[in-house]
Amino acid sequence: MEYRIGLIGCGTVGQGLLEILLKKREQLKEKFNFEAKVVSICDKLKGSLLLPEGIDLEKLLHLLEGGKKISEYLEGESNEAEHFDALEIIEKSNADIFAELTYTDIKTAEPATSHIKKALKTGKHVVTSNKGPAALYYMELKKLAQENNLFFRIEGTVLSGTPVFNLFEHGLAGNTIKEIKGILNGTTNFILSKMEEDNMDYENALKLAQELGYAEADPTADVEGFDALAKIVILSNVFLEGDIQPSDAEREGITSLSKEEILAAKEDGFRYKLIASTKKENGRIVASVSPQRLPLSDPLAGIMGANNALTFDLDLLGKVTIQGPGAGKIETGYSILTDMLAIHRKLVK
Ligand code: HSE
Repeated sequence: MEYRIGLIGCGTVGQGLLEILLKKREQLKEKFNFEAKVVSICDKLKGSLLLPEGIDLEKLLHLLEGGKKISEYLEGESNEAEHFDALEIIEKSNADIFAELTYTDIKTAEPATSHIKKALKTGKHVVTSNKGPAALYYMELKKLAQENNLFFRIEGTVLSGTPVFNLFEHGLAGNTIKEIKGILNGTTNFILSKMEEDNMDYENALKLAQELGYAEADPTADVEGFDALAKIVILSNVFLEGDIQPSDAEREGITSLSKEEILAAKEDGFRYKLIASTKKENGRIVASVSPQRLPLSDPLAGIMGANNALTFDLDLLGKVTIQGPGAGKIETGYSILTDMLAIHRKLVK
């Protein structure tokens, strides 16, 4: 089955997705009967393209790798998409599925939320790795999708392509979650690891995390715990049927943690981690993000570098911990593919 795909945002994640679609084309067709034809791309900085008959991904990626604009794809031919804003592109596109891959704004969730609403109102499924809309408007967007017989999927918002939401649809289905605890931010875990293992200063470790591309555009979101907060809010609302906002959870980042405290914990056989957790108490969600001193026997204490991990406390299985990448070009691009495949599985059922 062939799906026409639209991209809103063609930065790191968008390009990761395009690379995967190109590299895995034959495998996806052979194994899953899944074919993707990219028909529209819209990027605030790189320009836009509307080609209902499909874009040659190899040619486009070659342009992007050379730092060229998307519109150069047409080699001088007039490009009507240049005159449209993102909302018009979404409306005019013949895509079946839109990938919303613009930068996360945790405070306003815009412009991503408007993009998603427009896509759902004009008959397109939406998959996103954007944490803003998922943290602030998940219920509303899910309902809008359902009302229109469409899917709204968010695998890439937590742990990038490491399965979390898709895991519960199949592998862990039937369990009731008692508590979720995790390391949900790669930047802070990387900084804490570098400070402890390499005796690095906070500033240098943050700078390195930025250079390696883990940190958000404004790293305050990482180091002050806002990014992990958005993710624990998403997990609370999806898995514990909560309806909480980021302001309903306690938040503390890692900036008040000194290297002396980190090294003293190490001497005592403990390790500081930025832990996000959520559970239901008397029908109410209790969620928080804070640095915690974990004994080394805790599986979360062993997660080093930019990796993420989640421990689910389940009624039937007890504690199950998953760990894997929480960020990255191919890793997050892959999350978009897994959600597209999930939509495909549902549609061909
Ligand atoms: N800045 C985020 C992190 C990226 O460091 O985990 C992935 O959401």
